[in-house]
Amino acid sequence: MTLLTVNGVERSFYGVRALAGVDLEVPAGRITGLIGPNGAGKTTLFNCITGVIPPDKGRIVFDGRDITGLRPDQITQTGLVRTFQIARGLPRLSVLENLLLYGTRQPGEKALTAAFNPGAARQREEELIARAVAVARRLNLMHVIRNPASDLSGGQKKLLEIGRALMTEPKLILLDEPVAGVNPTLAKEIGTHLRTLINDGITILLIEHHMDMVARLCDHVIVLAEGRHLAEGTFEDVASNEVVQLAYMGRRKVKVT
Ligand SMILES: Nc1ncnc2c1ncn2[C@@H]1O[C@H](COP(=O)(O)OP(=O)(O)OP(=O)(O)O)[C@@H](O)[C@H]1O
Ligand SMILES: [Mg+2]
Repeated sequence: MTLLTVNGVERSFYGVRALAGVDLEVPAGRITGLIGPNGAGKTTLFNCITGVIPPDKGRIVFDGRDITGLRPDQITQTGLVRTFQIARGLPRLSVLENLLLYGTRQPGEKALTAAFNPGAARQREEELIARAVAVARRLNLMHVIRNPASDLSGGQKKLLEIGRALMTEPKLILLDEPVAGVNPTLAKEIGTHLRTLINDGITILLIEHHMDMVARLCDHVIVLAEGRHLAEGTFEDVASNEVVQLAYMGRRKVKVT
């Protein structure tokens, strides 16, 4: 089953074509890798899919619904969430507070409901805390749950970023370089966490430059170059594809650890 379909998506910045008509499909229940040389348009594609920037042209259908042009918060509510290439989050807040911020249906969101039905609001808050603790536990962040996010190591910050995505109860997570700058041991651990998400029925689209990670984790790989879909297949298929090799030449940022 196809969970996400991108059709003819174009986006330019000041006359520079970052996306020149991208077509691709992301199957449900798998880890699909999205690779390509620097500047290929991978992050821009994530931005267009998640409503951070509107595409100039094209259509994006998620889980049977046209989400083109929706706001990021509306898209998150459909079950599609992304992480950023540079981990965000609020550094002074604790890990727990950072997770709670991203829980869906916050009790404070609807002030009237909270005022007239404090019991329901409290119950929802307790559910959210339970969910945050479960997310922290599955990502091995329990021992730092009360620490400010600024105290976390680079790898733990990446895990928190994934945790915040999980708080929205997503069907599809778009991950933008989740192990960039992370030491190899933690990168492996993050990879293992991603596999367990698949077992829980979550689908992943993963931008990654570490080819060993792509080879190990991705069931399917899509190559983007110069704002276009260039090739797709198993990692072995695309790695041995001459057109793909040419696209990478001279603009290599493939890190093998
Ligand atoms: N907000 C922006 N304003 C102007 N140009 C942009 C903007 N965002 C992206 N671009 C340009 O669009 C092109 C694609 O960039 P993008 O960041 O999507 O590439 P990428 O594949 O994610 O690269 P990397 O692997 O280095 O992260 C580049 O030429 C980039 O300079
Ligand atoms: Mg990028």
